[in-house]
Amino acid sequence: MTRVRIPPGAPSRDEMGKIEVSNTKAYRLIYPRLVVLVSCIDPKTKKPNIITIAWSTTLSANPPLVGILVASRRYSHELISSAREFVVNIPTVEILDKAIKCGRVSGRMHDKFSEFGLTAKPAKIVQAPIIEECVAHLECKLVDQLTTGDHTLFIGEVVAACANEGTFDGQFMDIERVRNFYQVSGDSYASLSKELLRPGL
Ligand SMILES: Cc1cc2nc3c(=O)[nH]c(=O)nc-3n(C[C@H](O)[C@H](O)[C@H](O)COP(=O)(O)O)c2cc1C
Repeated sequence: MTRVRIPPGAPSRDEMGKIEVSNTKAYRLIYPRLVVLVSCIDPKTKKPNIITIAWSTTLSANPPLVGILVASRRYSHELISSAREFVVNIPTVEILDKAIKCGRVSGRMHDKFSEFGLTAKPAKIVQAPIIEECVAHLECKLVDQLTTGDHTLFIGEVVAACANEGTFDGQFMDIERVRNFYQVSGDSYASLSKELLRPGL
């Protein structure tokens, strides 16, 4: 009988020859994910904060609902729960470093706006500021929240939204002009290639 030596750490395969992925890592099969910066505010001190988020989603077009998933230990979790509002800001590759730094330190100890050179500008409806260096902004009022294991899904109703001149054609973001970016894996990011794929319908 020939013995096949499986190298240590080699992935195991199922009957179809597909690599087995542990259930707790399966969410990584739905990467890459758009990186957004969520701004929020301490309702008592009015001090603003920023959290980098890869887990965000559209939830409904009408009413306009978006969701962000925030781990319960984050400072921003506290702020969003108490202020009941947040702003989803869309960063581009021009501020990649700043955006990632906002996801490395906590607003409990840091003023991310001043430390990373980001500008807080008043939003139209909510008290949390928009981040001027981002190209689009969705102001949201918290309408519901759901504990989803180790994260909380904050459901926000969009109460105002705006985008930089020339970035939104009235229907979609123009990716030839806007280089927003995605988290591909732990520390790597990519923006979309300008070569658009069009399905042969
Ligand atoms: C690219 C990237 C994506 C992230 N996505 C999320 C996310 O979706 N949800 C989350 O709770 N934390 C996420 N984080 C971690 C938070 O941004 C990080 O813990 C941050 O420091 C929390 O800040 P705060 O304590 O001021 O709220 C991400 C970090 C990075 C760098």
